[in-house]
Amino acid sequence: MDPERGEALHLPFRLERRDDAAMRHALAAFSAQMCTRRSVRHFSREAIPLDVVEAAIATAATAPSGANRQPWTFCLVTDPALKAKIRDAAEAEERAFYGGGAPARWLRDLEPLGTNADKPFLTDAPALIVLFAQRRGALGEQHYYVQESVGIAAGILIAALTVAGLATLTHTPAPMGFLREVLGRPEQERAVLLMPVGFPAADATVPALTRKPLEAVLLRFAAGDTGEGAAAKGPALAATPRGG
Ligand SMILES: Cc1cc2nc3c(=O)[nH]c(=O)nc-3n(C[C@H](O)[C@H](O)[C@H](O)COP(=O)(O)O)c2cc1C
Repeated sequence: MDPERGEALHLPFRLERRDDAAMRHALAAFSAQMCTRRSVRHFSREAIPLDVVEAAIATAATAPSGANRQPWTFCLVTDPALKAKIRDAAEAEERAFYGGGAPARWLRDLEPLGTNADKPFLTDAPALIVLFAQRRGALGEQHYYVQESVGIAAGILIAALTVAGLATLTHTPAPMGFLREVLGRPEQERAVLLMPVGFPAADATVPALTRKPLEAVLLRFAAGDTGEGAAAKGPALAATPRGG
């Protein structure tokens, strides 16, 4: 290995070896926490420890990425004036969206969520994380699988904040071009997520939604189970009800 010649230095890699019971135990604990996650649209104004949010962002930034380009920028916004500016701009976009800009079918699909153009959570939540995807590097370097990489980082971010006991909303006002302007980000960056973070308001509610059952999303292809047989199983379409 010669880093001088562009060859990566390789290091030994060890993973703590757990027995099956320890694996199940660790996963059950994580899964139980993740099952508490909901998209929260009513936030308390109560302050949150920002070092926890920063630690969650640091965790998200360990995500895998195409050719290890790490094509993301996380903006952590706590300045009330800046949050108000973002809310104003987001609500202007959302008024256009809900007021006829969005296809009727999309608006129909959103009805069960009860969302509209008002976004008080953007000023109520003590922190906003704006996640930008970098189409290219600052010096024009090629980036790869940007959308996928940033999506994985966003997932880890949500998981980290959830495990910490904070509520989030995966918010994507359409379009989000204004965020680059408001936060002074360069042309090669594109906002992909505007995430309020905080505690839920005391009277917060969430829509009662259903999750697809595991059988609808997992197809098993074990030895002896031919592709044809597996395909014939098909996905089960029924959904199981799930409380709010
Ligand atoms: C990519 C993406 C974009 C979303 N955009 C919005 C949004 O702009 N506004 C909103 O209120 N919820 C948004 N959501 C949240 C979804 O509505 C929510 O995840 C879904 O209804 C399931 O509810 P749950 O997150 O509580 O399980 C978005 C979710 C994803 C994954």
